[in-house]
Amino acid sequence: MLAVVCLVLTVEPANGRVLVLSAGLVATLVINVLLMRRAFAPLSKLTTLMARVDPLRPGQRLESPGPASEVTLLAQSFNAMLDRLETERRDSARRASAAQEDERRRLAGELHDEIGQSLTAMALQLNRLAERSSDGTRAEAIDARDSALQLVDDVRSLARQLRPEALDELGLVPALTNLIERLSARTGLVIERDLERSLAPLAPDAELVLYRVAQESLTNVIRHARATHAEVTLKNDPEGVVLAVRDDGRGMDGEPAGNGGLRFMRERAVMVGGDLRITTGASGRGTQVRLRVSSEQRSR
Ligand SMILES: Nc1ncnc2c1ncn2[C@@H]1O[C@H](COP(=O)(O)OP(=O)(O)O)[C@@H](O)[C@H]1O
Ligand SMILES: [Mg+2]
Repeated sequence: MLAVVCLVLTVEPANGRVLVLSAGLVATLVINVLLMRRAFAPLSKLTTLMARVDPLRPGQRLESPGPASEVTLLAQSFNAMLDRLETERRDSARRASAAQEDERRRLAGELHDEIGQSLTAMALQLNRLAERSSDGTRAEAIDARDSALQLVDDVRSLARQLRPEALDELGLVPALTNLIERLSARTGLVIERDLERSLAPLAPDAELVLYRVAQESLTNVIRHARATHAEVTLKNDPEGVVLAVRDDGRGMDGEPAGNGGLRFMRERAVMVGGDLRITTGASGRGTQVRLRVSSEQRSR
């Protein structure tokens, strides 16, 4: 642009013609601003994206802003940095989750085997005591026995929540069926289910994440939604397997931040490269949690 200005002034010197000079200056400035704006537009896109990037919702990238330039390079390095961050995030989520699941399995085993067995033995002892005791103390012994039996149940159910043994032994669909029936019996909430029997093959990690997301979503429905009906579906789709948990409760006002179960679900989804969406309508329209994970062949 400066070269063009020089050329014009050489051919047609503006000696003292203030108006022409000012017009020239204004034109130069306007063209300059337009050119700069074009050159820097990708930068403002970059800053908007930088402000928006959320490690729990991976996959956002800058489009390459046309011809090679410093800004294109910047955008490319930014995208590459996002790649690295997302990989690292997934790996660390995996490590954290593996550690947590190991610990849960150990605790569940101990609760079930050690404490559960001892309590059962104690209940049997109390039972014998009840049989042998006189009428005066029998009622008390029977009470104690019943409390011990109740504790056995509680411990077993706690162990089951910590580590769903059905998942290891029977697979995802029976484990989900089991979970739904237990929750439904305990709370009286009607939970319909439509679980595809012949699921696309899934990695064990992915199965566990599907189970945990269903578990957390249903617990949320019971705790927060004030729903009368809930529905769990598990279906094959062209890219993998989709789990959906819907309720007809009060819905939420946007997605609350925080360190609770919703964040836990997002982290678990990131871990297996799944796509988690939580949609919630206005009051009364309920909430839907949807998780898609790739089947084993696809994710390899
Ligand atoms: N299905 C739902 N219906 C209505 N509100 C919900 C539902 N799920 C979650 N919420 C709201 O989102 C908040 C955060 O949920 P979550 O992260 O699971 O934490 P927590 O269950 O420990 O409170 C809940 O306190 C509740 O207000
Ligand atoms: Mg919760």
